[in-house]
Amino acid sequence: MKKVAVIGSGTMGNGIAHVFAQNGFQVSLIDISEEALNKALATISRNLDRIVAKGNLTEEQKEQTLSHIATYTDMRQGVQEADLIVEAATENVDLKLKIFKDLDAFAKPEAILASNTSSISITKIASVTSRPDKVIGMHFMNPVPVMKLVEIIQGYSTSDEVTSQIMDVSLQLGKVPTECNDYPGFVANRILMPMINEAIYSLYEGVAGVEEIDTIMKLGMAHPMGPLQLADFIGLDVCLSILNVLHDGFGNPKYAPCPLLVNMVQAGHKGVKTGQGFYTWTPGSKELVVADRFKKK
Ligand SMILES: NC(=O)c1ccc[n+]([C@@H]2O[C@H](COP(=O)([O-])OP(=O)(O)OC[C@H]3O[C@@H](n4cnc5c(N)ncnc54)[C@H](O)[C@@H]3O)[C@@H](O)[C@H]2O)c1
Repeated sequence: MKKVAVIGSGTMGNGIAHVFAQNGFQVSLIDISEEALNKALATISRNLDRIVAKGNLTEEQKEQTLSHIATYTDMRQGVQEADLIVEAATENVDLKLKIFKDLDAFAKPEAILASNTSSISITKIASVTSRPDKVIGMHFMNPVPVMKLVEIIQGYSTSDEVTSQIMDVSLQLGKVPTECNDYPGFVANRILMPMINEAIYSLYEGVAGVEEIDTIMKLGMAHPMGPLQLADFIGLDVCLSILNVLHDGFGNPKYAPCPLLVNMVQAGHKGVKTGQGFYTWTPGSKELVVADRFKKK
């Protein structure tokens, strides 16, 4: 496997393209937005500079990595030679079904189609293609060049051979691929999101404040950051949508999103991306400032 196409060049897509290119794969990076593609190339270049500055890559290897990436706004053109396609477009079920229908029509018949979805059923995505045995989940973590885990999700019809090929490719990227089956939230989000939701409930019910909840979980459980800070990083809208997938998929009230989370998303307070969440986020500042409405009176 030498040629990879990545669909979507946002937060995850640029990271995925980066790690494949740095490990010698030829990458076609595809987005509907020319602006997103230019932004992705600039981000990849900046992230490579950081690795060069740490002495883990030479300037020449950086240039080589960048030369492995070609960008396209035409999906048909971008995927035609790919052995593996990793879809990392916006998390929207109708959009993903449309993309996979198109990929099935445009890609080589033997190409493997992977999705980086956080929560949409791989089996459902596979069902719109004529090759469900070659559709698989490849759930990278953010930031992709840094995080070691790739959660590999075997859909109901994914073949063992395809799973083993994807495990091998992930190892070639220096990652730790870990297999699971296709049920709502897979493993990572099925366990993480109820914890985040419970942290929000603890705040909502006045059990403790933002700082206290995050400090208790950070220092008490040896987590690198508290669950409310992590929720702000992930995006509160993303957390809400994954909780809804768990709630709908299992029909169990224990996954019902906390009303405070619903309100915050409706008010446009989505965490780091909007500047307001449980904390106030100022670009360039690393200081952790609790949002005004959650400050102790
Ligand atoms: N952000 C995270 O922390 C994270 C972590 C793991 C998985 N994911 C998953 O990764 C995927 C991408 O998330 P993201 O955070 O990078 O989103 P993003 O919004 O940063 O980027 C999505 C990109 O997809 C592009 N796009 C939309 N429709 C397209 C199409 N038809 N063809 C090509 N490109 C298209 C958009 O222009 C945008 O550049 C989602 O499925 C998400 O659930 C995200």
